[in-house]
Amino acid sequence: MTRSVTTEPKTILVTGASGGIGKQTALTLAVQGHTVIMHGRNPDKTSSACAWVIEHSGNHNVHAHVADLSLMSEVVRFAAEIRESYESLDVLVNNAGGQFGSSRETTEEGHEKTFAINTLAPFLLTNLLLPKLCESPSARIVTVSSESYRQAGRPLLDDIELKHGYSLIRAYGFSKLYVWWLMRQFDARLKAAGVTNITVNTVEPGSAVTGLQRESLRKSPFMLPLVILWLPFMRTARHGARTSVYMASSPKVEGVSGEFWGNCRPKRIDPRWVSTDGERRIWDYCAAVCAPYLHDVAVPLSQCRTA
Ligand SMILES: NC(=O)c1ccc[n+]([C@@H]2O[C@H](COP(=O)([O-])OP(=O)(O)OC[C@H]3O[C@@H](n4cnc5c(N)ncnc54)[C@H](OP(=O)(O)O)[C@@H]3O)[C@@H](O)[C@H]2O)c1
Repeated sequence: MTRSVTTEPKTILVTGASGGIGKQTALTLAVQGHTVIMHGRNPDKTSSACAWVIEHSGNHNVHAHVADLSLMSEVVRFAAEIRESYESLDVLVNNAGGQFGSSRETTEEGHEKTFAINTLAPFLLTNLLLPKLCESPSARIVTVSSESYRQAGRPLLDDIELKHGYSLIRAYGFSKLYVWWLMRQFDARLKAAGVTNITVNTVEPGSAVTGLQRESLRKSPFMLPLVILWLPFMRTARHGARTSVYMASSPKVEGVSGEFWGNCRPKRIDPRWVSTDGERRIWDYCAAVCAPYLHDVAVPLSQCRTA
């Protein structure tokens, strides 16, 4: 691929960049000439994805980092590594995500796995990297959600980690609804503090052929016929990456914040899925769970540019 610098070079972290949509996001951003930090969980897979991006973009400012984001302790270690390794950070793309089987599983730290990776990790990582993002003249937080939030039914706000009402569809759908709500709260809180140099947006990539369902299909084979029927309508991972790339780097969306995007356009949101009370309850829940991991990083809104 030939290099096409379309925007001023930035330093951009893409989580879950060892495969699927994240790897394609990293490739396009590298082709655009940015410094790209590729995060993955598996060391070999991440370093080979990084080598592949360097080879196909011709950009050598591409770096690999490894962390298991299902564990808050690892998110903390990873965030510190990023803060210390890079002089600046302009864009955080919270892309890593997972989907599991029809039986509820918990992490070593006791959290429902889907919630831990898809909701808690972006909340904690975004908080821990805010000090770095604050220093950027123009920072962006882009978080990958999913249209699946509409398939999970009414949110169970008294059973956030689904101790009683677990199902694969609920766990995945709610985790993507909650992470979107958290990003709306980040946006509202930054705006309320008068911060002018950080935008926060959520994106959905559309159905794309990636490794996302490999674990859920292995553990819940009843899903296989549905996926096979749906396959002709699915896009490539590269196509799925377009909106993430657009929100991470396009000058057309400079200053735009607080929206949900798909196909590089703001999406019309059904008001049934908007709930300020729900957003606050999820924020408070995540803030309480993450409190022990946030104590040494005061969110330095004072360092941000304010109106
Ligand atoms: N594909 C779709 O149709 C679709 C639709 C809507 C939304 N999304 C969202 O798009 C994002 C990217 O998913 P994808 O479809 O590209 O799936 P994917 O191919 O499975 O990629 C997911 C990435 O996240 C990483 N990851 C998973 N669990 C992790 C953990 N515990 N710690 C650190 N990294 C972890 C994976 O690492 P490994 O390689 O080690 O597994 C991989 O790099 C996800 O947030 C997903 O929910 C996808």
